[in-house]
Amino acid sequence: MPLITFIEHNGTEHSVDVPLGQSLMQAALNHSVPGILGDCGGCCACATCHGYLDADWQDKVPAPADDERELLEVVLDPSVESRLTCQLSMSEALIGAVIRLPESQT
Ligand code: FES
Repeated sequence: MPLITFIEHNGTEHSVDVPLGQSLMQAALNHSVPGILGDCGGCCACATCHGYLDADWQDKVPAPADDERELLEVVLDPSVESRLTCQLSMSEALIGAVIRLPESQT
């Protein structure tokens, strides 16, 4: 299965298998990745799934929709690489992608 690597702010790496089509937030929850809470269940309402998608993969995912962009404006530790992982679905193009987690989610 395709792999995604989540890296906690302290450097701990979690490489997880993610079925195609599954949200990266759900994959993180399924593998108990610390720092991804997914409090709203993926409704784009909580931002507890915030992560930084490495630059190499930014052009391999759709740009944030309006609701995601608005929520990203209020997250702690924003970055140009910020995304809500509940809004990112696994695809062939994301195989090997790296998501770093913000310090505020430790
Ligand atoms: S899980 Fe709530 S915004 Fe992503």
